Amino acid sequence: MKVRSSFVCQQCGYDTPQWYGKCPNCGEWNSLIETVKEETVKSTFVRGPLAKSGAKPQKLSDVRHIEKNRLKSGYGEFDRVVGGGIVPGSVTLLAGDPGIGKSTLLLHILAKIGGLYVSGEESAEQIKLRAKRVGIDGENISILAETNVEGIVEAIDTLCHSRAGGNPEKKKDGSPIGSGMTVRQDLVVIDSIQTLSSSDLDGMPGAVGQIRHSTELLIAAAKSQGIPILIIGHVTKEGMIAGPKVLEHMVDTVLYLEGERFANARILRTLKNRFGAVEEVGIFEMAENGLKEVTNPSALFLQDRVKNVPGSVVTVIVEGSRPLLVEIQALVVPSQLAIPRRVVNGIDYGRLQLLVAILQKRLNIPLGTFDVFVNVSGGLKIEEPAADLAVVMAILSSFKNKPLDPATAVFGEVGLLGEVRRVAGEERRIKEAKRLGFITVLSPQTTRNLKQAGEVL
Ligand code: TYD
Ligand code: MG
Repeated sequence: MKVRSSFVCQQCGYDTPQWYGKCPNCGEWNSLIETVKEETVKSTFVRGPLAKSGAKPQKLSDVRHIEKNRLKSGYGEFDRVVGGGIVPGSVTLLAGDPGIGKSTLLLHILAKIGGLYVSGEESAEQIKLRAKRVGIDGENISILAETNVEGIVEAIDTLCHSRAGGNPEKKKDGSPIGSGMTVRQDLVVIDSIQTLSSSDLDGMPGAVGQIRHSTELLIAAAKSQGIPILIIGHVTKEGMIAGPKVLEHMVDTVLYLEGERFANARILRTLKNRFGAVEEVGIFEMAENGLKEVTNPSALFLQDRVKNVPGSVVTVIVEGSRPLLVEIQALVVPSQLAIPRRVVNGIDYGRLQLLVAILQKRLNIPLGTFDVFVNVSGGLKIEEPAADLAVVMAILSSFKNKPLDPATAVFGEVGLLGEVRRVAGEERRIKEAKRLGFITVLSPQTTRNLKQAGEVL
């Protein structure tokens, strides 16, 4: 057995016999790590598991059949985000910061669908504790504390065979099985991919080779058994899924669970979805006894709002197909520093600087000697420029120490010339604001430029 050593980028998986300080492929610094590989591994790696899995071409009609058999997670929000339910045989990566609620979310879903929880992170007792806390008795959940991926694949095979061979009357909702294809009513949860390792490889769990190889084996198992697998993946400080980027390319669906750790709202986003749209967003709330879906998110984001205080403005953003009301808060105070502070939470820092500059130039507001703090309440991160006008109004309101009428919602993009620009979905935004009891909506239709906006205050 020949042993070969090479340097593998921990971000993109680029493989080179020579060390570089900067990955020649993805440009990441200090990401090449020496990895020892055995030649025999290489051959199984290239065409092993997928070839052995017995994957066969499928008729398109059968694929539609699978589509109809999407598994319902018990959360309308989750199902909508993944495109209508979990597709049998699909592999989904759920990424997010530690402690955000990934294990909790998947435990809830597993309790609804039933299946196998593979944990390399926590002991069975710890999982039991969490299940008790959220009111899950775990009747239909098996726990496997295992980090060896071959062992896990074996357990998945056993699970599938025991369900397929034996008692069809156990099938939970009696969904039809057609055209000789078994439809699984089980789910496998892997918590987490960074803890798995294969006995074929030498690297530590979490190393790029291990992650890639483990994922490949799991994908092969999912496809050949028609069982959906949900894989938890940790995110690094920079917000990247720890380990190789290739992981995202391998799986069918990539979901992100995000939110502020100490706020209750959790937002589920899609980064990639082979079975649905990627714009949809699901909103959850972390409660004492588990993760609850939020069907009226605007109300959640506005629940702690204090009215008639300068610096608070409600805006309407659109996440996926849905308009959402959120509160933007600003605080403007005289600065003690030569370079005044600009601190943001929930919007882009550069965007704030731009808006401050526009206010200085177009409305002659002397913000050069003031610190400006902007916060989006509820831990939401706003990316669309439709919140510009609300940010500007919140800053103005704090600067002038005048509250905005609490029954007013505001949205619109602000241009460099101080003009208020139109944004997509204006009617939907106005409708949602009215639905939640807002009487006045300042939008690009009513407010053409910052001068008009300033006159409101
Ligand atoms: P967890 O699902 O373990 O997060 P992850 O798997 O993403 O690391 O959730 C951990 C946090 O959630 C922890 O800080 C406690 C909190 N939590 C609740 O507030 N309510 C609950 O019902 C549960 C289970 C956890
Ligand atoms: Mg966890």
